[in-house]
Amino acid sequence: MISKKMFDSMNEQIKMELESSYLYLSMVAYFHSRNLDGMAHWMRCQVHEETIHAMKFFDHVISRGGEVVLLDLKQLKLTWKSPLEAWKGAYAHEQFITAKIHNLIRIAREENDYTAEPMLAWFANEQIEEESNTDKAARQIEMVGDSKQGLFMLDREMGTRIFVAGSPFDPAAYNLLK
Ligand code: FEO
Repeated sequence: MISKKMFDSMNEQIKMELESSYLYLSMVAYFHSRNLDGMAHWMRCQVHEETIHAMKFFDHVISRGGEVVLLDLKQLKLTWKSPLEAWKGAYAHEQFITAKIHNLIRIAREENDYTAEPMLAWFANEQIEEESNTDKAARQIEMVGDSKQGLFMLDREMGTRIFVAGSPFDPAAYNLLK
């Protein structure tokens, strides 16, 4: 049985993963508004991936005998001054989520929750990629500077992201994430 503290913290994490999804959906809209359809495509994949993250916590709580309580979602941000600001924002958000995952690991250790630890280790590892992807995109945009051609090429490259996981509500989708 999952402890009350662990259960509350995981419900909070479900909310934060769904807020990540909502934030990135705002970025999808923003990138489309700037005709950056490749970046919008990349973020659509990310919206999907964040929903899978939320559902991974959701199903963990249920399988441990807890009850999921869905909390109010915050609208984190609606628009950005530039693509660079958006990607820097995505990177900062991922750093924030990493800190939250590390905090969950700390709580699991305090609560002697040996069942949650391997699942949280998966998330800690996943955050390496989450931070790296968004940081790399921001750095590449900085590299091309004011070059419209450079931004166009980057946008095209980001439009090639392939996301194979099926429905985020199908537990089989978790296993398809790297
Ligand atoms: Fe679910 Fe982007 O971390």
